[in-house]
Amino acid sequence: MVATDGRPTPKRESPAFDLSTYLKERQVQVEAALDRSLPIIYPETIYEAMRYSLLAGGKRLRPILCIATCELAGGTMEMAMPTACALEMIHTMSLIHDDLPAMDNDDYRRGQLTNHKVYGEDMAILAGDGLLAYAFEYIAAQTKGVPAERVLQVIAWLGHAVGAGGLVGGQVVDLQSEGKLDIQEETLTYIHTHKTGALLESCVVCGGILAGVTNSEMERLSRYAQNIGLAFQIIDDILDITSTQEELGKTAGKDLQAQKVTYPSLWGIETSKAKAQELIEAAKTQLEPFGEKAEPLIALAEFITSRTN
Ligand code: IPE
Ligand code: IPE
Ligand code: MG
Ligand code: MG
Ligand code: MG
Repeated sequence: MVATDGRPTPKRESPAFDLSTYLKERQVQVEAALDRSLPIIYPETIYEAMRYSLLAGGKRLRPILCIATCELAGGTMEMAMPTACALEMIHTMSLIHDDLPAMDNDDYRRGQLTNHKVYGEDMAILAGDGLLAYAFEYIAAQTKGVPAERVLQVIAWLGHAVGAGGLVGGQVVDLQSEGKLDIQEETLTYIHTHKTGALLESCVVCGGILAGVTNSEMERLSRYAQNIGLAFQIIDDILDITSTQEELGKTAGKDLQAQKVTYPSLWGIETSKAKAQELIEAAKTQLEPFGEKAEPLIALAEFITSRTN
């Protein structure tokens, strides 16, 4: 770029946003908060099983999305952290249950044996139940510096997003669709937007609620989140085909084996990648009015398609 007098325009003051540093910093903060959130008390077995999966690593994308949105909208990390931890507890519950023999029957998750492989199916079901219940308790009891009606709104929103109208509903249709060759795009989109999109959308929406965003800001943030949510599961389906167990930390090739209908099975890998990229571009467009403040959310959206696990 050149100024009107012909000299090059000075570079902008703030250095380019570095996602990898941002993610590392946030991951450390979230790990520490998660570790503090769940001490081991009697009966120890269940707390150990809950901690085993909750602290097993993972990208921590959901808590980071919640914190980033709260900060974008003028809130602080402290306001968002209890909800951010709760989102990771709910996500971990969904993974423990998703891996059970009655569902996807997976032996590995986050690079280690699945919860039921270590603690048995009975304890794995209960560890998921424990995490789900504790998530709601944790938001209600630990959120500080936020008006009570906003906290109530977060709890109501999350309850819906995780229940039969959201994640649970998506998992139901996912399981009912296994082995069926005639699943249409409409059904697949329902599965993905519910089993994965609903919780990812909640991360952004709850971050926004805690910070007290306006209705029009919330509409933009929701559309951003819906787009990245669907893109996230399309990429998950692609990685299931193109990645190794070592990269993923979970068994690769499971969708084909279980005869799951996925975007790559309907459209092929290249078209699916292009669709995910389109969704990410649409998500970023929603953030334009927020200017530089939206850099973390923009970078997080880009990370969804560039990730390798
Ligand atoms: C895996 O989620 C389950 C899906 C919704 C596809 P992530 O890929 O975010 O898993 P972790 O949290 O990083 O382990
Ligand atoms: C997971 O979908 C969605 C939830 C856990 C709610 P997948 O079954 O595709 O997730 P992975 O591939 O096992 O992580
Ligand atoms: Mg599944
Ligand atoms: Mg699975
Ligand atoms: Mg998958």
